[in-house]
Amino acid sequence: MTVRIQTPDVLEAEDELERSLRPRRLEDFVGQRALKEQLSIAIEAAGARGDALDHLLLAGPPGLGKTSLAQIVAAELDVPFVQTAGPALERKGDVAAFLTALEPRSVFFVDEIHRLPRALEETFYPAMEDRQLPITVGQGAGARVVTLDLPAFTLVGATTRAGLLTTPLRDRFGIQARVETYSPDELATIVRRSAAILGIEIDAGGAHAIATRSRATPRVANRLLRRVRDFAEVRGRGVVTEPAADAALAMLEVDHEGLDRLDREILSAICAKFDGGPVGLSTLAVAVGEESDTIEDVYEPYLLQKGLLKRTPRGRMATPAAFRHIGLEPPDHTLF
Ligand SMILES: Nc1ncnc2c1ncn2[C@@H]1O[C@H](COP(=O)(O)OP(=O)(O)O)[C@@H](O)[C@H]1O
Ligand SMILES: [Mg+2]
Repeated sequence: MTVRIQTPDVLEAEDELERSLRPRRLEDFVGQRALKEQLSIAIEAAGARGDALDHLLLAGPPGLGKTSLAQIVAAELDVPFVQTAGPALERKGDVAAFLTALEPRSVFFVDEIHRLPRALEETFYPAMEDRQLPITVGQGAGARVVTLDLPAFTLVGATTRAGLLTTPLRDRFGIQARVETYSPDELATIVRRSAAILGIEIDAGGAHAIATRSRATPRVANRLLRRVRDFAEVRGRGVVTEPAADAALAMLEVDHEGLDRLDREILSAICAKFDGGPVGLSTLAVAVGEESDTIEDVYEPYLLQKGLLKRTPRGRMATPAAFRHIGLEPPDHTLF
């Protein structure tokens, strides 16, 4: 059995459990101190002015809380939350249907906004800047452009790839934030909070074991908690302790650094097949049988953070630590 981390496909149905674990208010949202403070000030100021919050762009790898934060912003502003995703918007009419139906000050959440078709970006510019939506009515010689006034709204865009956004679109977000990965202590807090919601008995050792092996990602921590709970119920007394977590994670092939099988396959491929690199992303993807996007969005951030992988202009390189992690001697020429 391998732990599959959620692919960045935003259209994948969210499961009921994930929803129940979502923090509802800023104060329930663990970590991201600087971002929370920035948001809480902006939210309070917008509320005091009776105005919509500035447009907000949230960038960062999957599972770090972007969707949760978007919902929290709406809850804190006490305004409706309307949600869609970049790939779901195909025609200008799709965008118009959403925008014209918004209640004043609503949060309009566009997930995976970097996958918005380029041709539609221009529809967003006047909407974001001037709350205006030019639409063409009629056809042929009789066609004319009518400009609709839109209610004040806050566009919250989430993206795993801020680099793919065009500059004109990115520049129209008044608040641009990066969601960071989480420390083991923060993840342990999240795991204990989730355990309380799900009625799972857990001790400090169990929370720590899961926290340190969750790729610094709350979504992964919550998934592992559920898997370890199953294991503890079937093989033990149902309490998530450190030994239960260790045994369950070993069964799930999550190692002591929190790497799963595909992480190790990526490292093995670079170290053994490509002599430590540099190797291009697409070549690497073929070697491990995974999509380039998944490797880049889901796997690489953690391997980079762990100092096991380096990105160079000529491709990905394994560090000496990567060689050691998979039980190989680092070659002399890997000088860092
Ligand atoms: N800061 C946090 N505090 C508590 N739980 C969190 C936090 N960030 C994420 N989570 C949990 O992780 C899950 C995934 O978060 P989500 O907002 O869907 O991430 P993203 O949209 O960035 O992929 C949520 O269900 C939530 O339970
Ligand atoms: Mg999301």
